[in-house]
Amino acid sequence: MHIATNTRPVILTGDRTTGPLHLGHYVGSLKSRVALQCSHEQFLLLADTQALTDNAGDPEKVRRNVLEVAIDYLAVGIDPTLTTICVQSALPALAELTLLYLNFVTVSRLERNPTIKTEIQQRGFERDVPAGFLCYPVAQAADITAFKATVVPVGEDQAPLIEQTNEIVRRMNRQIGRDVLVEAAAMVPKVGRLPGVDGKAKMSKSQGNAIPLSASSDEIRDAVRRMYTDPDHLRVCDPGKVEGNVVFIYLDAFCEDRQFVEEMKAHYRRGGLGDVTLKRHLEDVLQALLAPIRERRAHYAAEPDYVMGIVREGTRKARERTEATLAELRSALGLFSLT
Ligand code: TRP
Repeated sequence: MHIATNTRPVILTGDRTTGPLHLGHYVGSLKSRVALQCSHEQFLLLADTQALTDNAGDPEKVRRNVLEVAIDYLAVGIDPTLTTICVQSALPALAELTLLYLNFVTVSRLERNPTIKTEIQQRGFERDVPAGFLCYPVAQAADITAFKATVVPVGEDQAPLIEQTNEIVRRMNRQIGRDVLVEAAAMVPKVGRLPGVDGKAKMSKSQGNAIPLSASSDEIRDAVRRMYTDPDHLRVCDPGKVEGNVVFIYLDAFCEDRQFVEEMKAHYRRGGLGDVTLKRHLEDVLQALLAPIRERRAHYAAEPDYVMGIVREGTRKARERTEATLAELRSALGLFSLT
């Protein structure tokens, strides 16, 4: 049993604790985490320290969402006996590794990171970027390497961060003269980034175009009704466009019955399939997906002490793991030791 545990490849991924998770997280990452937890040793990081890099003025929100995101994990089927759930800010080794790695990264390299460039624009930071925000890719490299993770399931927007992590790994290993740290591979889902219900590039709570995992059945129905389709598809008998049609993007992402989706696409293209009927199909799919998640969510939300117990136990385990990597690195670098 122990041997098997130790040879499973390690996954580390996480989420900023800024709000409850939504369908974009589900297709982008949560679904594969549930599938991978048997074959991998999986750690999920409640990234509260990273959340503070652009929410420093609202630590209460960041703290509250540690519990909310943990509940989301359990509700989608993360099994705490298979997956370790832990809190970033309670793992001091991560902060220490970040500080060491910062010496192996240039400011211009950080400023060139495409993910960061976009995020700085989105947040309107312009010249007033918090230093912690600019440097969060280094902290994320600390997260990944502290667990010696080789697989990091993330959305495609995070791929440049994994690239930067591996640069740090190579730079550190070269400095030390042997491979203490291991490189990681991003595991990007086949389904691209899920657009918001308004058709905007990304589903995001702050854009108000997200369907949270906790959505009630009325909220799901309203969201699907508001969904952007083909603006030129005016009459049912008109041929409609499938490409860029949000309803079809969602059906591709969530409907298991591929053949049915292909038939609907053909029908929509040739005309005769109305938006109302099409949306009813999608609504059925989403209601069926979210109903059991919502139920389990309510169950865990009523037991916050139980959930926090899981989080504390996971954090203890993660502490041991991350401290071990830090100790190894400190000794390899020949840093001062009290003992
Ligand atoms: N950056 C991720 C997000 O925005 C959260 C995160 C923090 C993460 N540390 C990580 C993801 C390490 C993968 C690996 O949600």
